[in-house]
Amino acid sequence: MTARTAAAVSALTAVAVAVVGLASPAHAADPVLRDLAAAKGKYYGTAIPAGRLTGTHGSVAAAQFDSLTAENEMKWGSVEPTRGSFNWTGADQIMNFAAANGQKVRGHTLVWHSQMPNWLANGSFGNDELRTIMTDHVTTQTARYKGRIDQWDVVNEAFNEDGTLRASKFYTQLGESYIADAFRAARAADPAAKLYINDYNTDATGAKSNGLYSLVQRLKAQGVPIDGVGFQTHLIIGQVPSTFQANLQRFADLGLDVAITELDIRMTLPTTDAKLAQQKADFKAVTNVCLAVARCKGVTVWGFSDAVSWVPDVFPGQGAATPYNEGYQPKPAYYGIAEALGWSGDSGGENPGPTGTCAVTYAVQSQWSSGFTAGVTVRNTGSAPINSWTLKWSWPAGQSVTSAWNATVTQSGTQATAVNASHNAAIPAGGSATFGFNGTWNGSNTAPSAFTLNGTACTTA
Ligand code: XIL
Repeated sequence: MTARTAAAVSALTAVAVAVVGLASPAHAADPVLRDLAAAKGKYYGTAIPAGRLTGTHGSVAAAQFDSLTAENEMKWGSVEPTRGSFNWTGADQIMNFAAANGQKVRGHTLVWHSQMPNWLANGSFGNDELRTIMTDHVTTQTARYKGRIDQWDVVNEAFNEDGTLRASKFYTQLGESYIADAFRAARAADPAAKLYINDYNTDATGAKSNGLYSLVQRLKAQGVPIDGVGFQTHLIIGQVPSTFQANLQRFADLGLDVAITELDIRMTLPTTDAKLAQQKADFKAVTNVCLAVARCKGVTVWGFSDAVSWVPDVFPGQGAATPYNEGYQPKPAYYGIAEALGWSGDSGGENPGPTGTCAVTYAVQSQWSSGFTAGVTVRNTGSAPINSWTLKWSWPAGQSVTSAWNATVTQSGTQATAVNASHNAAIPAGGSATFGFNGTWNGSNTAPSAFTLNGTACTTA
């Protein structure tokens, strides 16, 4: 190790240790996934939104994970909402956080049929113009973060379930060659980044993964600069494919790196001890697959806390798909990952038990000289339905509610009380209700730190 690397390593260790000290929600003896993974020559990463780099979410992300993926902030629609006008704010925040915490970054993603800006999705362009638009975008984005990205998802979700190429705007107008052109542009602008193609439902052998395998063979034969294949791995409990390891290995045998890039393992809500135990076995099995394939570089979970996961929004009635619960307590799944990575400590009983019956997300959506608008989401994290609700909080800085929607909000002194509207009175297990209000503030607009729902304390995200 050179002196420079040694200094860098000890600086990083200091940062990691400092951050562990802040991450109080976990059990004191809880293992550190990034250290366990590093000891095995792998990384363990998470997706994160730029809005969640602070507080408990930020401190657990820094302490436990050594790779980050921007959940949305590096997608085309985020970075170039207007043609030729770039907004790197969120992407830069994630890059800076990763650098400060000694984390790699997976760049996600350059060319994808989804989350494109409207001007691109709805615009009409000649074929040559579209090809130039695409390669310019790839060049601009990879050049901006040149030398700082570990892996780029150059092309995302190019396949249909039957293994044919998806009829995206790019494929429809440019044919298969759009893929090679995107990779060439990325390599030219950032020669150090490992360039990946990434997809879902390709974890098992089968039609879709065969289509991907054939494409990668063709690209390699043409000398296209592709380095790796990403397997998203959005799974359902009890359904880790038996062919997962063999599938990763056949891609690795083509001379490519592989990575598990968006792991989550969802269940039908509510959670039960049996489902959480199955989920533990599944996270352990997936982690073991990566360990068993020498060219598997690491695993990224698509969000590490049930408080911040895309699953409940996209798969109605399902959720609890990550290794931490909504209150940032490690779930059995977390210990499953740690055990796969060689940890054999005492988890202190593993199941964090009931998560409370509610989790509250409070966000100031806009703020002006003396007023503000806030939105509140109340999630039922218990196993029983809620039939009606009263949410209470106290204002830390003299704020006052002036008008509300989707709930009736009253205030007495610093105590605010929100009662459901009739249309959102019932919250099924795993479901949520939202309401909003306008208020006044003076001096500072600090968020409330604690909420109770029907008299029981909620967790806050
Ligand atoms: C998801 C994000 O998690 C959501 O916040 C967003 O609304 C939609 O996209 N495959 C991918 C990811 O490659 O970019 C997706 O992320 C999840 C599926």
